Amino acid sequence: MDETAETYDVIFRGAQIVDGTGAAPFAGDLAIRGDRIAVIAAAGTLSRAKQDIDASGQAISPGFIDTHTHDDNAVLIAPEMTPKVSQGVTTVVVGNCGVSLAPTVLPGDPPPPLNLLGKRDDFRFEGFADYVTAVEQARPAVNVVGLVGHSSLRVSAMERVDRRASTAEIAVMQEALAEGLAAGAAGFSTGLYYKPNMAADMDEVVALAALVGAAGGVYATHMRDEHVHVLESLNETFETARRAGTTVVISHHKCSGRENWGRSRETLPVIAAAGERQPVGLDAYPYAAGSTVLDVDHVDAEIPILITWSDAVPEATGRYLADLAKDWGCDVFEAARRLDPAGAIYFQMAEEDVRRILAFPGTMIGSDGLPHDKHPHPRLWGTFPRVIGHYGREVGLFPLEVAVHKMTGLAAERFGLKDRGVLREGAYADLVMFDPVAIIDTATFEAPVQPAHGISLVMVNGVAAWRDGAAGDRAGRFLRRGS
Ligand code: ZN
Ligand code: CU
Repeated sequence: MDETAETYDVIFRGAQIVDGTGAAPFAGDLAIRGDRIAVIAAAGTLSRAKQDIDASGQAISPGFIDTHTHDDNAVLIAPEMTPKVSQGVTTVVVGNCGVSLAPTVLPGDPPPPLNLLGKRDDFRFEGFADYVTAVEQARPAVNVVGLVGHSSLRVSAMERVDRRASTAEIAVMQEALAEGLAAGAAGFSTGLYYKPNMAADMDEVVALAALVGAAGGVYATHMRDEHVHVLESLNETFETARRAGTTVVISHHKCSGRENWGRSRETLPVIAAAGERQPVGLDAYPYAAGSTVLDVDHVDAEIPILITWSDAVPEATGRYLADLAKDWGCDVFEAARRLDPAGAIYFQMAEEDVRRILAFPGTMIGSDGLPHDKHPHPRLWGTFPRVIGHYGREVGLFPLEVAVHKMTGLAAERFGLKDRGVLREGAYADLVMFDPVAIIDTATFEAPVQPAHGISLVMVNGVAAWRDGAAGDRAGRFLRRGS
């Protein structure tokens, strides 16, 4: 180490370095110059920096990559991105579940689930390139990776979305997707479970995903079925990706519904076997409840359902559907109809499945947080510290370096993010300093808007984005595919 000639912007001294590759932590000093990591050295060997940070007792890891978000609009209208930077997230992947803010032309109000991203006026990007420009102008606190959503393409290209797209409509969607890929989109997503997307058959999806395959991008899917037909949906997913020649990411893998609980025992070996034949990834969030729009056709009377927002009955926010039904003297289905349009948390999973899926070696972490919900699922604020603090440290599902790998190096590899997700010389200085003994989520289903504990500093491209409980400067970038 040539310490005499070097002056660094920042040196973290005496940290426990968890480098994101899954390798065991080691004690060291880490120095930053500009937006990059300049050197990682044995503790006590670096001498000069403009700013010195005592990192003893602290871990330093790459910034967390939230592989599954609906932050398309949040990065523009709330660019400080507090729910994310406060939990150590430095990069978000937007445009999941078939819904992206761009490129979208709406004929009217956004149909569910597009309404999870914003109102009609928010969908103002005819081209994906315009969205990229808007992100760069907003300069959010986190880096942004973008997917183009199939439902967004469909509502733009088709007068009715309750049928398969025609050849001409597919051509329009292909053109829009190609523009998105040329502008730097990382790939394409479907939400085949949802009404604007469900009438698309495999041929339609392949016709679009093939463009992504040719460009070296990623195909992410909220599958047609995560309930009793989850195995059929997995097979559809693998065949679609194989025909399209793409890497596939199974979004928020789960086994939903009581009759399905425990079936990750079946799904994970199927995913592992597919991974031997073709590139397959998956993400999950660390909770046994999901959240999305409230749809009467998806209401399951067997499970608790908590209302996250309702345009029709705003005061129902934060209450359980069964209690509302009791108050109103109706059943839960009628109550759901009265609340529409609305959002909900569905307590639809078994804890044993959540644990098995989180511990699966290929599983990345994606919060699936819904940033515009009034009473959001706690995953919006708590996902990443919960994986480390609860499932890693308290439950013992995996050691710290494995938890960190799932949230960093593995995700960067899957999404092709160059020089991110690992701590090494020359990589971008996206990093988190946290107390490995104290880090924990504090957001709950009752009180979901709470920053996590134990994170002292978050750096994005060499700039402090979060420090000692307060927002810093915003230095996020739009990360174009392959850059
Ligand atoms: Zn989804
Ligand atoms: Cu999602």
